[in-house]
Amino acid sequence: MARETSILFVGDVVGRTGRQALESLLPGLREELVPTFVVVNGENAAGGIGITPKEADALFAMGADAITLGNHTYRHREIWPYLDERREIVRPANYLPGQPGRGTCLVERDGVTLGVVNLSGNLYMQAASPALVTVDEALREVAGADHVLVDMHAEATSEKVALGWYLDGKVTAVVGTHTHVPTADARVLPNGTAYITDVGMTGARGGVIGVRREQSIAVMRTHMPMRFDSSDEDPWINAVLVRAAPVPRRAESIEQILRPA
Ligand SMILES: [Fe+2]
Ligand SMILES: [Fe+2]
Repeated sequence: MARETSILFVGDVVGRTGRQALESLLPGLREELVPTFVVVNGENAAGGIGITPKEADALFAMGADAITLGNHTYRHREIWPYLDERREIVRPANYLPGQPGRGTCLVERDGVTLGVVNLSGNLYMQAASPALVTVDEALREVAGADHVLVDMHAEATSEKVALGWYLDGKVTAVVGTHTHVPTADARVLPNGTAYITDVGMTGARGGVIGVRREQSIAVMRTHMPMRFDSSDEDPWINAVLVRAAPVPRRAESIEQILRPA
């Protein structure tokens, strides 16, 4: 296994603004950080909600090795068959077996294999089974991988912290997504698993978790429905770089990458 394996994980890419931010920043980050793998959460890539084959293809073309998703996975029908056809895009493993797609995948680069696992939290989310139970089965599916990254897409910080502790020493990294706000708790846990409760979002920081702020404020002030558009003000990338240890499934460091586009 290469000594210098590293994973750049990019938090929820929101709409065109998020895609453009990633497209403009990724070449420079590649040069600077030289990540072995790039994994991108794409659940908000299409107009802020969900993803279609067009955005998935665009993220792959930018250099994503794998795409993870979340609660907006099935918003656009066009992605349903794509999720069954393309191996490198995953939806939460603890969804119903009958729902399109898979929850784990394996990608390979420079002779190193990375297992990617996507999970959904259970609080305020419609997952079929508890993340902390289904993860055992998901890890068996990526048993042969040199390194494993778990994207826990969840609302509740407690579920993400609990999963981090449960997987400490079993996987290379547990990264949280969904809230679109980065947390200040990135660290390597005692048994060698890199952990962060939320990576944040790649999109417009001038909005309300990706939505134009005046629309979000109006809904909160009137309790009346209103159309939501993605904000394009002040785009940033929110990501983490996990440097793997020279032993399988352990991390040496985790560093937040928070930069304006
Ligand atoms: Fe999201
Ligand atoms: Fe989400």
